Amino acid sequence: MSATIVGWGMAVPEQIWTNAHLESMVDTTDAWIVSRTGIRQRRIADDGDTTFSLGLDAATRALAQAGLSAADVDMVIVATLTPETPMPATANLIQDAIGARSAGAFDLNAACAGFTYGLEIGRALIDAGSAQTVLVIGSETMSRVVDWTDRSTCVLFGDGAGAVVMQGSATGGIRGNSLGSDGSGAPLLHIPAGGSKLPASMETVRDRLHLLSMNGRAVYKFAVKATVRAAAVAMARAGWQPTDLDLFIPHQANLRIIDAVANELRLPDERVIVNADVYGNTSSASIPIALCEAVDQGRVNQGDRLVLVGFGAGLSWAAVAVEWTAPVTPSDGSASGAGATVPRQSASAARRLP
Ligand code: ACO
Repeated sequence: MSATIVGWGMAVPEQIWTNAHLESMVDTTDAWIVSRTGIRQRRIADDGDTTFSLGLDAATRALAQAGLSAADVDMVIVATLTPETPMPATANLIQDAIGARSAGAFDLNAACAGFTYGLEIGRALIDAGSAQTVLVIGSETMSRVVDWTDRSTCVLFGDGAGAVVMQGSATGGIRGNSLGSDGSGAPLLHIPAGGSKLPASMETVRDRLHLLSMNGRAVYKFAVKATVRAAAVAMARAGWQPTDLDLFIPHQANLRIIDAVANELRLPDERVIVNADVYGNTSSASIPIALCEAVDQGRVNQGDRLVLVGFGAGLSWAAVAVEWTAPVTPSDGSASGAGATVPRQSASAARRLP
């Protein structure tokens, strides 16, 4: 028995911040951001959007897409590094809001690898017989932890949520995985204060220690290596070669990282999903959002072999190899919450960096 994805949904805030908007906030240019990252715009939560509200919308859409009700759900997993509150977990709030009265619920923090960690945990729960239906949500409001005075990080991130429903499957589904951690890299990408080490104080707020801090160059090098290695291990465990792959869905941190990984794995553009150009880095939400868009664009078919890879703070990484089993009907994207007005380009055009 394995586990497979039977429903999917996404939600992003209405508000779009282009690179031109960021030019008015920090000393940067559209040309710098596009050439270093490929990002052209991102969605930013307004006062009404939170990690809970975005995650709830994505979860509701995923359940509807699966044709299931909240009563069917046995476990709610929310991958997030920007929870609604430190306590209780955002998963508890979503479990209650959807009315999943017989479900357990917990949050999972593996930063940008959180959603793929969640998929593997969902698979294991189903495989062990502990759950029949698992809701895995990646939801983030990165704009609430980004330092909007730091040009080296604030241009990278955006807000959003994506969710999938998982159930058991005799054929297909998750065929391989690779989960990893290298905590020695913790200081490379972190939010220093707000936990046990440095609880909130006047000083931590004054020194901006509740905001994300990153060594971009070191994280870049780690990201390329970890993504290639995790994808290779997950494919090997599934018994696949890179040439067997129909679609590669990497964490959408940066187009240069995605290009470098695709080159190493010798994957052509048409087999790589890219939407960082319109959403930026939405951390644990980026892979489920990219998956929803790929399905809506008709790029996923029954029997396709997909590899999803997340990487990020921790340092942590997680890859899963999935044989897609669900019937798919491409939509115009509006049903998934992508919004009909998003000005965007094709993935291959987005990948052509200047
Ligand atoms: N606009 C203009 N100039 C800038 C900006 C900006 N927004 N940001 C930095 N610069 C300047 C720097 O000050 C520096 O100037 P200097 O040479 O005068 O000192 C110059 O640009 C080069 O800076 P670098 O940091 O060396 O630029 P680099 O080419 O490495 O690109 C980037 C930076 C885009 C952050 C890159 O390192 C990267 O993509 N790293 C990976 C980041 C990432 O993906 N993180 C997320 C992981 S997922 C998670 O868990 C959250």
